[in-house]
Amino acid sequence: MCGIMGYVGPRPAVNVLVGGLRRLEYRGYDSAGIALGTTDGIHLVKRAGPLRVLSEELEQNPPPPAAIGIGHTRWTTHGGVSDRNAHPHLDCREQIAVVHNGIIENASELRLELESRGHELRSETDSELVAHLLEEVEGDLLHRLQVVAKRCEGAYALLAFDLAEGLHMCAVRRTSPIAIGFNEAEVFVASGAIALAPWLERCIYLDDGEIADLRPGRADVFRLADLAPIEKAFHEISVSGDLPDAGRHRHFYMKELYEQPSAWRSVMQGRLDDSGNVDLADTGLTHEALRAVQRLLFLAMGSSLHASQMAVERLQQFAQIPAEAILASEFRDTRTFLEPGTLAVAVSQSGETIDTLAALRHARDLGATVLGLVNAPSSTIARESDFVFDLRAGTEISVASTKAFTTQAVALELLVSALAAAHGRVDTTGRLAALRAAPAIAEDFLMEFRLPEDLIARCAAAPGVIFLGRGQDLSLAREGSLKLKELSYIWSEAFAAGELKHGPLALVDSRVPVIVCATDQKHAPKLRNSLAEASARGAYGVSVGADLHATIHLGLPMHDSLAAYLLGALPLQLLAVSVAEARGCSIDQPRNLAKSVTVE
Ligand code: AGP
Repeated sequence: MCGIMGYVGPRPAVNVLVGGLRRLEYRGYDSAGIALGTTDGIHLVKRAGPLRVLSEELEQNPPPPAAIGIGHTRWTTHGGVSDRNAHPHLDCREQIAVVHNGIIENASELRLELESRGHELRSETDSELVAHLLEEVEGDLLHRLQVVAKRCEGAYALLAFDLAEGLHMCAVRRTSPIAIGFNEAEVFVASGAIALAPWLERCIYLDDGEIADLRPGRADVFRLADLAPIEKAFHEISVSGDLPDAGRHRHFYMKELYEQPSAWRSVMQGRLDDSGNVDLADTGLTHEALRAVQRLLFLAMGSSLHASQMAVERLQQFAQIPAEAILASEFRDTRTFLEPGTLAVAVSQSGETIDTLAALRHARDLGATVLGLVNAPSSTIARESDFVFDLRAGTEISVASTKAFTTQAVALELLVSALAAAHGRVDTTGRLAALRAAPAIAEDFLMEFRLPEDLIARCAAAPGVIFLGRGQDLSLAREGSLKLKELSYIWSEAFAAGELKHGPLALVDSRVPVIVCATDQKHAPKLRNSLAEASARGAYGVSVGADLHATIHLGLPMHDSLAAYLLGALPLQLLAVSVAEARGCSIDQPRNLAKSVTVE
C-alpha cells in the first residue's frame, strides 16, 4: 500500500526520496510524487504510473537543490489514479506539504467544511484535506499536526513540513506504520525500515497515537493525546542496504519460489534437533507456556490464513487441542468472548496487516495471550505480541506469497509438535524426520519438475478454474486458487470436495479445469470419486499428490502428509506464474494489489 519517505539533511533530498521510494515499490502503488522545500518555494513533481515515470521526469528536469523533502507512492483509495491525486498535497498558499497512508473516514464532512471556508481543493483525495486543515491552525507544526490528527478519524500515518519552519518535519501514526532513523546531521522517515536501510543501521518505530518532531540529528516522540514525551527503543534494521535484486530469476516471485527449501531450513534451524525434539525457547514459548495453552485461535488473512487452516487440521490430529482459524477481518465483529487458556496466534508475513493487527488487539482485550508469527520481527504485530515466532524466510518482495506461505506451514508444524509434546499427546519424531528431509528433496524436485504445456494452455484459456481438497488439502486448494487469481486474473475458486455435488458441479464443463489437491493419501479414495464426477461432466481433471486417475497427474516425491503438502504447493505456485506469463500479466505487482495491506 502507500509508501511514505521523508528526509532532512545535507544530501540532495531528491536522491534520498527516490531511493527510498524505490525500496517501497514492492508494497504496490499506482502513482508517485515528491515535494522539495527550496528557497523558491515547494517544488512539487507528481506522476501517475510507476516510479520510473517520475524518475525520468526528474532526470529530464532536475529539481533545484533541497535539504528537506517528502515523497510518496500512492495506492488509490479516494479518487482515481491521476497526477492530480498523487501525493504530496499542498495547502492553498503552497507552503505546507503532506503525504498520507491510510484512510480519513470523516473526509466528506471535512471537505465540505474546508470548501465552505473558501479553501481551493485541487484533488479528490482525503489526504489533501490535511494540508488545508494545517493551514488553518495556529502554532508550530507539531501542535498544528496534533490538532489536525485529532480531527481526522480513521487509520493512517501522516508526514508534513511547512516551509516557514525550515529544516523541520512532523509525523503522526494512527495504525499505519512509520519508521524513523537519524544520525548527527540527518533524519529519515519511511513507511518501513527497508527504505531506511541504505543509510542507517537502526531505527525507532512510532506506535499508535504517537507524534514525532523531526530535525537533523534528532527525533522527539510524544503522545498524540497530550504531547507527553515518550522514550523510544531502537531496533536494528536487519535488511540489506542494497536494492533488492531478483538475480538470475525473471522476477522476485520466481526467486522466492526457489528460495523455499532454504527458508524451511532456516525456520527449523536451532528449533528442531536431529532426534526430532522441538525447542521454541527463542519465541518465549517455554514448556510451562505451552502447557498453559488450552485452545488456539489463528487470526490471519490470505495465504497466512491458509497456512493457519493447515495448522488447525494438524493440531486436531496430532495434539488433540481445539483450534480454529478465523479470517482476521471478521473476528472483531463476530466474537465477544474467548475461552480461558486461549492462545491467539496472529499469522502475518509482513506483521503489518491491519485486519490481523486489529484482530490481535481484540483477542488481547478478550483476555487471550498472543503469539505473533511474522516474517518481520520488528513489525507492529511482533511488538504487540506476548511471544514472537520469527519466520526467518528472508524478505518477500513479490505481492503473491510463496516462501512465506510454506515456511509458515513449517513453523506452525513446529508449534503443533511442541504443543503435542508439552501436553504429552503423540510422539511426533517420525513425522518431523520427513520434515527435515523435505528441503533437499524439494530442491531436486524444483530442478527436475516441468509443468505439462497443455495444462498451462488449458488454464490460460479457461473461463474459470476449480480447485478441490479435503482436510489439509482444502487449505492447499485455497492457496492454489488464490495464487492463480492473483497472478493470472483468471476467476478461480476452491471448494471442499464434498461440497461439489451441492452446487459447484453446475459450473463444470469441458472448458473448466478441475485441480484436485491430494497430498494427504488418506483422502485419496473420496477425492478420486469427486474427480470422477467432474470428469464425467467433461472437466479437464488434474491431481496433485495421490494418483486420482486424472487427465494430468502431478506426482510428488514424498508421501508424508506434511512434506507432501509443502511439495504440493510448488506445482501450484509454478502453475499460477506460468499461466500468468502466458497471459502477459505483471508478476511481482499484480493489478490492484498491495504487498502490505495497511488499510481496512
Ligand atoms: C498472498 O499471496 C497475498 N498477497 C495476500 O493474500 C497475503 O497473504 C495477505 O494479505 C496477508 O498478508 P500478511 O501475511 O502480510 O499478513
